[in-house]
Amino acid sequence: MKTLELDLDSRSYPIHIGSGLLGSKDLLCEKITGGRAVIVSNTTVAPLYLQRVLDSVKDFDPVSIVLPDGEQYKNLDTLNQIYTALLEQHCDRQTTLIALGGGVIGDMTGFAAASYQRGIPFIQVPTTLLSQVDSSVGGKTGVNHALAKNMIGAFYQPKSVIIDIDTLQTLPDRELSAGLAEIIKYGLINDHEFFAWLEENMDRLMARDKEALTEAIYRSCENKARIVAQDEKEAGVRALLNLGHTFGHSIEAGLGYGQWLHGEAVATGMVMAANLSRRLKWIQLSDVERIETLILRANLPIRYPDSLGVERFRSLMQLDKKNIAGHLRLVLLKGVGDAVITTDFSEALLADTLRHGSIDKGD
Ligand code: NAD
Ligand code: GLY
Repeated sequence: MKTLELDLDSRSYPIHIGSGLLGSKDLLCEKITGGRAVIVSNTTVAPLYLQRVLDSVKDFDPVSIVLPDGEQYKNLDTLNQIYTALLEQHCDRQTTLIALGGGVIGDMTGFAAASYQRGIPFIQVPTTLLSQVDSSVGGKTGVNHALAKNMIGAFYQPKSVIIDIDTLQTLPDRELSAGLAEIIKYGLINDHEFFAWLEENMDRLMARDKEALTEAIYRSCENKARIVAQDEKEAGVRALLNLGHTFGHSIEAGLGYGQWLHGEAVATGMVMAANLSRRLKWIQLSDVERIETLILRANLPIRYPDSLGVERFRSLMQLDKKNIAGHLRLVLLKGVGDAVITTDFSEALLADTLRHGSIDKGD
């Protein structure tokens, strides 16, 4: 097992990564200080892994809440189901919530913990690659509103993150690739060596080699922990974690949520960010090609569907949360492993990027 620490003074917490961790009573109970353990999961993950976690925390009179599966349930109605179950079980402030599932379960459980009786402890036990390398770390919690994604929530840190890589063996291929997009993101933002390591090891990751997965998850969490420790509430540098997301969110929203997975849209978004960076002459054509090649090897898309249309795409970008006073801010690249947050690009070059997607090979 490997452990690293997210350093946030009194709210610091460990991130444990390894095999067989769901069965570790010591790890699961390490941060439960008393009261009950309540495991929140969904109808897909619970049949696979709930019993193991229940057994590990059996000294804390555990109960479980099993929610319907899907992004469409990440809303206030489902959150209310968690509150209702907690009240019916007479759960007090000593209760610890355990999020067992992907990012949807993690985000909702975290927000339930942030708000139930004005705040109770919670533990993240992420079971998708995306949640293991991104959503379980850093304390962004919340639910969707009918009008927009992730609009209601809180920054609220877990007491620990327990990543059992064995859970990845049951993950659908498409979800594995979606997680790889976020892993590639860390290499591109500020870890050139990690990007090169991914180039060497992508085949092992796609084959779900446990040693390679452990290393990739560790280095991703290390990168994210370093950035969150500097800027917990995204006043500055944390926005770098949105590389590819302004383009990606527009693809997700434009095609209708659920058509493309978030990681798939981010993958194409990162290629578009690289294309615009190349048009600005900030990076080499060979850099764009390296990025496209790695993303394709992770079985991820690099072009958005024509049906979305350039004008619609551009207007969707205007809704991004990073924009200030209507001005679009993007995360672009000065190199592989060197991302910047910038408004320093022209509408004309952005329009070229949206129109053509790829760089002309003769460029
Ligand atoms: P998800 O939670 O919907 O999980 C994807 C699918 O995999 C679901 O059907 C789930 O039931 C299933 N699943 C989970 N673990 C499994 C396993 N081990 N074996 C088989 N099936 C399994 O999606 P996700 O990609 O994990 O997370 C996406 C969510 O995370 C979005 O709501 C997004 O907004 C959020 N998110 C949050 C942050 C953050 O910082 N808080 C960051 C990125 C994404
Ligand atoms: N997923 C982006 C962040 O946590 O800031």
